[in-house]
Amino acid sequence: MSIVKDEALAESGRRKIRWVRDFMPALGGIEARFERERPFAGLRIAVSVHLEAKTANLGYVLQKGGAQVYLTGSNPLSTQDDVAAGLASMGVETFGIHGASAEEYEGHLVETLKCRPHLIVDDGGDLVHLLGDKCAALGEHLIGGCEETTTGILRLKAREREGILPCPMMAVNDAKAKHYYDNKYGTGQSVWDAIMHTTNLIVAGKTVVVAGYGWCGKGVAMRAKGMGADVIVTEVDPFKALDATMNGFRVMPMAEAARYGDVFVTVTGCRDVITPAHFAVMKHNALLSNAGHFDCEVDVAGLAALAVKREARRENIVGYTLPDGRVLNVIGEGRLVNLAAGNGHPAEIMDMSFAVQALALEWLVKHRAQLEKKVYQVPGEIDDEIGRVKLAAMGLAIDALTPEQEAYLSGWKA
Ligand SMILES: NC(=O)c1ccc[n+]([C@@H]2O[C@H](COP(=O)([O-])OP(=O)(O)OC[C@H]3O[C@@H](n4cnc5c(N)ncnc54)[C@H](O)[C@@H]3O)[C@@H](O)[C@H]2O)c1
Repeated sequence: MSIVKDEALAESGRRKIRWVRDFMPALGGIEARFERERPFAGLRIAVSVHLEAKTANLGYVLQKGGAQVYLTGSNPLSTQDDVAAGLASMGVETFGIHGASAEEYEGHLVETLKCRPHLIVDDGGDLVHLLGDKCAALGEHLIGGCEETTTGILRLKAREREGILPCPMMAVNDAKAKHYYDNKYGTGQSVWDAIMHTTNLIVAGKTVVVAGYGWCGKGVAMRAKGMGADVIVTEVDPFKALDATMNGFRVMPMAEAARYGDVFVTVTGCRDVITPAHFAVMKHNALLSNAGHFDCEVDVAGLAALAVKREARRENIVGYTLPDGRVLNVIGEGRLVNLAAGNGHPAEIMDMSFAVQALALEWLVKHRAQLEKKVYQVPGEIDDEIGRVKLAAMGLAIDALTPEQEAYLSGWKA
């Protein structure tokens, strides 16, 4: 039995799901084939991904492929109650309530795993964490699973090194069809979409500090520059820092950047990136946000401890007044801003990421007899197929290598 906030919200959720389905053609093509071939017939799939419309569409497509799908969120603030109700009304067992406490959130993850899944789709590693520990008994039928994000994959690899991976896992984030687009262009757009509508302030003319110049950080910095911001990048990797410099961004340590920033976006996947030492020198009314997976990049608890007053300033913005009168504004509680205070990535982007998820799950089923408890890369053929389908859906064509060109590129004689 699904656990959602209010079943009466279902029509609003179904409308959101219908909207995104019109802009997810690659997943739509896979859905049509899955409906014919039913690769997941008789299998149960547990999904923990941000519970909003694009994820709902993935759940629906897997169901069309013959699976019984059990779906929960991957962050209590990104769950949309109407989408959860809409998805439940479409026959997918759905567990999630916006703003659930940490205990309730874990309860929803456990409810999802009670189906004793054959396959899992994880985003940040919460399902794997439970299956490796508290819910180990629920993993008896596991064939394998897929991980959506960079932070989750780092944890899977750490588990693999220690020999405690509960099942074979596919590194979906590392597929080209995922991180080249989702992390860069998806995060680049949706972070600014969320910050702009939540603050109703202008980006042009502001100094924006982007912490981390990885796939996501490149997108966030590029779009801020495109809107007229003066962008500073902070990094710990010398080559990423050089790359940022070559792209025209100022690079400096956070201790220095903290003095200049009007808007801060952390997207490192690391912890303690903005801490009390940085709050001490920030400008009055600076805006703080995080786009990394976990809410440990901006030390919001440390800021609260310093503050003499905490006040809701707008929906999803809390102002903390420091003893010297400066106010620092935290957007979306320091949780990933594009989902906690926005609608997540554009549908066309999640089309590619979830096409990888769907085909990687199918690959796991097909290869189940040969798999070990390891982290597997998504095969290049899956990446290439999605790239070709996406180009065709955009009405674009590319050249193909002639046999002579292929021979030239793979040989040494010419
Ligand atoms: N918000 C979203 O929608 C979204 C989408 C995809 C990924 N993510 C998450 O965003 C985070 C980053 O993902 P990515 O794919 O860009 O990873 P990445 O590994 O490509 O980039 C991370 C960058 O941060 C840098 N870094 C690490 N610690 C740092 C520190 N203390 N200070 C400054 N820089 C530091 C690294 O050197 C690296 O260049 C992860 O947590 C990932 O799970 C979020």
